[in-house]
Amino acid sequence: MDSIVVKGGGALSGQIPIAGAKNACLTLMPACLLSEEPLTLTNAPRLSDIRTMTELLRSLGAEVTSMQDGQVLAMSCHGAINTRAEYDIVRKMRASNLVLGPLLAREGHAQVSLPGGCAIGARPMDIHTDSLELMGAQIDLRDGYLHAKAAGGKLKGAVIDFPFASVGATENIMMAATLAKGTTVINNAAREPEIVDLADCLRAMGAQIDGDGTSRIEIQGVDRLHGATHRVVTDRIELGTYMLAPAICGGEVELLGGRINLLQAFCEKLDAAGIDVMETEKGLKVARRNGSIQAVNVTTEPFPGFPTDLQAQMMALLCTAQGTSVLEEKIFENRFMHAPELIRMGAEIEVHGGTATVTGVKKLKGAPVMATDLRASVSLILAAMAAEGETKVSRVYHLDRGYEHVVAKLRGVGANIERIKDQ
Ligand code: UD1
Repeated sequence: MDSIVVKGGGALSGQIPIAGAKNACLTLMPACLLSEEPLTLTNAPRLSDIRTMTELLRSLGAEVTSMQDGQVLAMSCHGAINTRAEYDIVRKMRASNLVLGPLLAREGHAQVSLPGGCAIGARPMDIHTDSLELMGAQIDLRDGYLHAKAAGGKLKGAVIDFPFASVGATENIMMAATLAKGTTVINNAAREPEIVDLADCLRAMGAQIDGDGTSRIEIQGVDRLHGATHRVVTDRIELGTYMLAPAICGGEVELLGGRINLLQAFCEKLDAAGIDVMETEKGLKVARRNGSIQAVNVTTEPFPGFPTDLQAQMMALLCTAQGTSVLEEKIFENRFMHAPELIRMGAEIEVHGGTATVTGVKKLKGAPVMATDLRASVSLILAAMAAEGETKVSRVYHLDRGYEHVVAKLRGVGANIERIKDQ
């Protein structure tokens, strides 16, 4: 198992290229199941989660070819396919559940393993399954698998009111509805940029979708979808993560491909914390305004609110802010696992339920720490880059799920960071 060793201190300067979005790519890939013709994605990120989705799609009978060092994925799924998504693959990644809607839409039946436990919370699938039932599917849970069957072999349009704006459920239902009979309306739909990206791709495949990016999405079912080529949207979470690097360490870094409208609420919080974000021709430039970081309060919310996927990294920034910050986690029930690790580095943090109170200290200090999930692990790396001394972050396989070339990207702006093989 690998670790990452970081020696803290030193301002950063230079540029970091931002990859295509992991979360967009993971929902765009299963869209290939909706057509007999090829779907090609460009600007795909090189990540282990993408390899897991590739493995899953291949197990269902899709041909997936990775080109240009993994940045182009050509997928093709013609003829008869397998409709059972096995536990052995699904358990590795919750986003595997995004094959349920497309399989059901294409074949009229599917068996998809429940993803199982996840470190950041229970994450049930009731919104997905209740919605598919409204579209005429019968769904039973047997042997750990969701067994789904569309009445008459074809889903039908429905008006669906989501109890919560779930990202994954919006994506699954949007895909399922493209080939359903009639019109589907999703009320209280998620509005994340990844949803708009999926809608753009599905429209390029011939789907009829309106209202993506708003809370009401309308999908008119069509008989068939055709092939398309689509460029994956910029990864706003990778972008926000690296925006925090110069904010925490000092210096100035340009994030290539960054856009403020992907992260408006996050940029507002950075501004309140004393961090300047400037638009450039190539992306965004980030630097501290005048030396110190100010405490700010943060509440995570569905888009366009502050993203839960940047909460851990923001906490790393606030550990050395002047004053006390309160972070409220409203999306996942157990997403403060980075707090005890940051405390090992000298941070002052108290967690009560979904609220963390962070009192800024002058400096964090290097320590051995452990990555617990994807975003938590990168928050520890950010904290380590500004800490005194050396930090060893173990269990970094979490990072490989969502950050391509993280060591090279951070070394490129002057961080003292290396990956080592544990003995
Ligand atoms: C997606 C992202 C993840 C991000 C999250 C919230 C991908 C691959 N992952 O996850 O990085 O942190 O959005 O922005 O895109 N819920 C239910 N029942 C359901 C579905 C969800 O109760 O049927 C709950 C979940 O337990 C969670 C909340 O709703 O507490 C948000 O989940 P959701 O928006 O569905 O997140 P994901 O799509 O899993």
